[in-house]
This record gives sequence, structure tokens and C-alpha cells, in this order.
Amino acid sequence: MVLGFFGLYSFVIIALFPGTFQQFVSPFYSPEVPLPNWMPGFVTAPMLVLWIPLGFRATCYYYRKAYYRAFFFDPPACRVDVQQKDRFWAGKNAAEGYRGERALFVWNNVHRYFLYASIIVVLFLWYEAFVTLFGPQGFQISIGSLLWFLNIVLLSAYTFSCHSFRHLIGGNKDCYSCIRGGNARRKTYNFVSRLNLKHPQWAWLSLFSLLATDIYLRLLQTGVITDLKIIG
Ligand code: FES
Repeated sequence: MVLGFFGLYSFVIIALFPGTFQQFVSPFYSPEVPLPNWMPGFVTAPMLVLWIPLGFRATCYYYRKAYYRAFFFDPPACRVDVQQKDRFWAGKNAAEGYRGERALFVWNNVHRYFLYASIIVVLFLWYEAFVTLFGPQGFQISIGSLLWFLNIVLLSAYTFSCHSFRHLIGGNKDCYSCIRGGNARRKTYNFVSRLNLKHPQWAWLSLFSLLATDIYLRLLQTGVITDLKIIG
């Protein structure tokens, strides 16, 4: 439900409102891409990018578990429950009844491609975070810039703790001493594995930091608050 709200919020925001204030760019609007002339009027430039983070979250292994259970009750919990449920509803053995992700949700297997695209988006968001350090009067550190940095740190933790990234970085190797740079690869894999243990927490924290960052920008735009400078 929270993920659904997040998707709805982000679509309404990018469809109706501008995404910048001084040096601050909302994370929903980055990277800023040109809108081709032939696009229908209701399409805005950020929509050409937003499908990447939304698709990344929608196909995330952790979110899948959450929304399969919450919306479809399928599987409801562990395999034992699956068997009970399938016997109840389908009247047959779970091995025959449960189709896992071979039916409608087979498209979730594109997750690794969303990961590749999301890494590019994350790099742009790091750039946008550094840009917040340079206001109209030059270098500064403000509450806003700290928020932008907090957001990108959490987003990076979420992106690089991804199960697909863990597989990519070293999970697909059986023998590190047999490959070039194996030691570095093993250390990176161990680091990502530690990050991966908290993947659900990174998923939620980064979701809320995205919302908080965008809401902060809206408050600046409407003049409800001013960005408090700490240095500069
Ligand atoms: Fe959650 Fe890849 S498994 S982002």
C-alpha cells in the first residue's frame, strides 16, 4: 500500500508541478532529459525517467514478497502454508497448483535490467546532491543539502544491497582465487552481502527519504520554509 501511494504521489507530482528550486532538483526529476516534440501533451520529461526507479522497486525481491502476500495472499508465507492454501483453493498438490513467477509475474525477472538503469540514475542523484552545495551566493551547507545527501546515501544503500547486484558483483563466482582481481572481488562481495542483510530497511528508509526530499522542495517552492544555512 505504501509502495502504491509512493507511485501515485510521484506520478501526480511530476505530471503537475515543477521540480526545481534554486540549486535543488527533486529526486523525481533527475536526470533531467529533453522531452521530444512528438510526445503527447500529458507526458512530462520526468516521466521518461520515473519508470526506472518505479520498475526497480516494483520488481525488487523484497517488495515482491510484501505485495504478493499483502495483495494476492500468494504465497501467504512459507511453503507449508502454500501447500495448504493450494490444496484448499485448487484441490490439488502444491507442486502442481503453485505457479510461482511463471505466470503473470514472470516479467519480474527483468529486475536486473532495472538495476543497471537505476545505477545510472543513482550516479545523477549523487551529482544533484553535490550541486546543492553551491547556492546563489556560492558554496554553502544547508539543511537542504544535508537532506539531499542523506537521501542519496540511503538510495545507494538500497540499490547496492540489491540481490541482483550481489549476484553480479561476486555471487556468480564459485572460485575467487581462480579469477583475476579475485581478492578485491571477494571483499566487495562480502561488503555487499553485509549491506544486503538490511535490504528491507534500506528499501523503506530510501522510500521515505525520497518523499521527504521532494516535500522539502515543495515547502521551499511555496515559501512555507526557507533553507537554513549551516555554513556559507
Ligand atoms: Fe530489492 Fe534488487 S532485490 S532492489
